[in-house]
Amino acid sequence: LRNLNQDTITQAVIARLAGTPDARLKEVMTNLVQHLHAFARETRLTEAEWQAGIEFLTAVGQHSDADRQEFVLLSDILGLSTLTVTQNHDKPAGLTESTVMGPFYVADAPQLSGGAKLSADRPGQPCLVWGRVGAIDGAAIAGATVEAWHCDGDGLYDIQQGQGEQRHCRGVLQTDAQGRYQIQTIVVPSYPVTADGPVGQLLGAMASQPWRPAHIHFRVSAPGFETLVTHVYREGDPYLDSDAVYGVRESLIVPWVEDTQGRCVIEFDFVLQRSLA
Ligand code: BEZ
Ligand code: FE
Repeated sequence: LRNLNQDTITQAVIARLAGTPDARLKEVMTNLVQHLHAFARETRLTEAEWQAGIEFLTAVGQHSDADRQEFVLLSDILGLSTLTVTQNHDKPAGLTESTVMGPFYVADAPQLSGGAKLSADRPGQPCLVWGRVGAIDGAAIAGATVEAWHCDGDGLYDIQQGQGEQRHCRGVLQTDAQGRYQIQTIVVPSYPVTADGPVGQLLGAMASQPWRPAHIHFRVSAPGFETLVTHVYREGDPYLDSDAVYGVRESLIVPWVEDTQGRCVIEFDFVLQRSLA
């Protein structure tokens, strides 16, 4: 293991992985080393570029904490999140498609009861989101947990607005006996992904547009079914074909219709996949 050079280093590292007890870890690390080395070789990575990469990843870590996940954002703008979601959720037609989780999910969002508004005190055009949660055979799923979250009228999520900020535009509810859910909230705009960190700077350096089409996030779960993480998008949004994080799927785009009282109404049914186990 002396005098390793650009032709022998890759095999040396892979050989050292030979004794990894966990077979899957061994496979993941072997492929990672192979592809990482191939990247450096094919790119003819310079030492200055290696240093810039280390500094960039350090900054991504420094901009990540319990409320902000800059690494998720990095994965999202590189298309890695969409690749991982799509190769793990290749579903038969008729089931609701999955898309990226994004960095703004909170596991302990407030329970919405008695018609409480998801938007809490945030101003905006009133919006009703409603529909059914069911199985592929049409059976209603009663008591399914529906978690919803979206940005406010300024395009910001509550957790982007600092520690101590009240939770708003997120909540949890359960479907009724017919599998129905109903959410009172506000209309959400298209918004640019966070530009004040290293990933935003990278998007700027790539002259890449940072906008996401207007959407509402959902996580829908029920015993005996695969948990669904998805969005509902607004038909006609100008960013549907240039989403900064590659998360748009045709089947998730629906009309957001204004009713006679000036309220936006979105109807969306979720169809869950039964768990294999
Ligand atoms: C979001 O929709 O919340 C989101 C998704 C990916 C990256 C940034 C934001
Ligand atoms: Fe979002």
